[in-house]
Amino acid sequence: MALVTWSDKYSMNIKEIDEQHQSLVRMINELHDAMLQAKSKEVALGIINNMAEYTQYHFSTEEKYMQQFEYPGYAAHKKEHDKFIEKVGNFKNDYESGKTGLSFDLLNFLKDWLVTHIQESDKKYSPLFNEKGLN
Ligand code: FEO
Repeated sequence: MALVTWSDKYSMNIKEIDEQHQSLVRMINELHDAMLQAKSKEVALGIINNMAEYTQYHFSTEEKYMQQFEYPGYAAHKKEHDKFIEKVGNFKNDYESGKTGLSFDLLNFLKDWLVTHIQESDKKYSPLFNEKGLN
């Protein structure tokens, strides 16, 4: 069973951003499945690497628009992004070196961070983005 299920309540009414968020949801579910099915470390690491790269790509998309539209919450929002990237990077290194493994704690952290960030932080920029013509 999927750990995170996409819901319309996560929608920003911006196709490009919604699709990116859906991809992140998919990757969290893939990692969850890999853990439940006790997939090899190589498989899990592949998913973690994809997730880390895609997260950076997604954040840079949002940050590009925030700067372009002079979103006043840019600095605080970017700080949240940077902190998350650092956490994922640290986990990736610890997992690679064998210092830590996949766990429900980690999966729940990823899920909770994403859905909370979407609903509480991303939602704040959507009216401005919509007003600037992004739908
Ligand atoms: Fe969709 Fe601010 O991350």
